[in-house]
Amino acid sequence: MDKKKTAVVVIPTYNEAENIKKMIDCLFSDIFNKIDNYKMMLLIVDGNSNDKTADIVKDKMKKFENLHLIVEEKKEGIGAAYVKGFNHAVKSLKADVLIEFDGDFQHPPELIIKLLDEIDKGYDYVIGSRNAKGGAYPSHWGFKRHFFSRFGGFVARFILFFPFSPFFKITDPTTGLKATRVENFFDKLKLDKLKYKGFAYKLELMHKMVELDAKVKQIPFKFGLRSYGDSKIDAQTPKEILKAVFRLRFNDKKSWRFVKFGTIGFLGYLVNSFFLEFLSGTLAMEKIASLFVILKDVFFLKVFTNRSAWAAGFATEISIIHNFTLNNIWTFRSKEHKASSKIFSRFLKFNFTAIGAIIIQFLAVGFGTLIFGNTLLIRQASLIFAIVFINIPYNWIMYNRVIWKKKK
Ligand code: GDD
Ligand code: MN
Repeated sequence: MDKKKTAVVVIPTYNEAENIKKMIDCLFSDIFNKIDNYKMMLLIVDGNSNDKTADIVKDKMKKFENLHLIVEEKKEGIGAAYVKGFNHAVKSLKADVLIEFDGDFQHPPELIIKLLDEIDKGYDYVIGSRNAKGGAYPSHWGFKRHFFSRFGGFVARFILFFPFSPFFKITDPTTGLKATRVENFFDKLKLDKLKYKGFAYKLELMHKMVELDAKVKQIPFKFGLRSYGDSKIDAQTPKEILKAVFRLRFNDKKSWRFVKFGTIGFLGYLVNSFFLEFLSGTLAMEKIASLFVILKDVFFLKVFTNRSAWAAGFATEISIIHNFTLNNIWTFRSKEHKASSKIFSRFLKFNFTAIGAIIIQFLAVGFGTLIFGNTLLIRQASLIFAIVFINIPYNWIMYNRVIWKKKK
């Protein structure tokens, strides 16, 4: 029989005496005993509460051997507490899965079972979402809190991820209920370099997990009301979160790649457009087209007798060489992209991509001018149509997945 994996539930506390007593009992008696494929541990990180929260935990530790406690020297923020807890869970408790959980019963304890189920299905980052279908905010919340939480969450995920897929996949970026896989993910995060100690830590961790290509799964949940005590979130939090998302995005490598890729793409378009016009008028294209004169009565193949189609094909090749060269020395210059293949094999893959692009533009300009007339306007419009709707998506996919694929 193989060894059971360990899951550590980490709960930061600050003056949660009433809640934590109930929470410890609830987790050990009603939840952990329903999970048989994990060794379950609970780690409390107390911010040196003055209401004896830590004493209550110490007392419970006599009863539950898988209950652990860290007492911070002083309260440093929820992010700092989680980082200490996670580090201890991984290094000393040998956690395979980390679970972020609040001590005030706003997160339904039975959801821990679900989080682990999804981890077992192969997801690396499982997030409780109040905005996913089936999730909810407390109905008692007034309009203002609803609005701030939802709108704030939307702004945060927009700034952090738009237009990439996590923007659509992660509907509740400020949620505090999560499970994180340690192997290949948490163990790759450089936690000592974490910038934020308050609530913004979660956006930083989320951004890093996405950067590591974690498979993300959302599960809906209903955010409860606090059983006892007050929320520790303060008026500074929205500002901190906003600052954090801007900063994270500004340093986001993938977004910069996208901007560079876009800039080079636009230059490439100008090159393409110029050579399409220039070559269209040359004798060379006329000669090539005339080699296929035998096909002139077969509608679909007639495109081979169209000199502008040939001009488009050659112009595409020129612009692709231009794009490849610049992307190679600028957009994808980092070692991690180059390490996955040698320049020669990248060049072969690139040629493979180029063939697709050449065919796309050959056909678009070829048929565009055959159908609508071989004028400058139609040539250029067909070119733009092909680039926007076919080439850009095709190239971005090929560049990221094939040519400059990241080394795993
Ligand atoms: N050690 C420590 N230090 N614990 C803290 C600190 C701190 O500085 N600040 C808060 N906590 C503990 C609380 O005692 C509680 O157990 C947990 O962290 C969550 O804090 P709450 O004060 O209950 O936060 P909230 O309910 O306003 O925020 C919840 O919703 C947010 C989104 O709306 C949390 O789930 C957040 O994680 C979430 O972002
Ligand atoms: Mn709370």
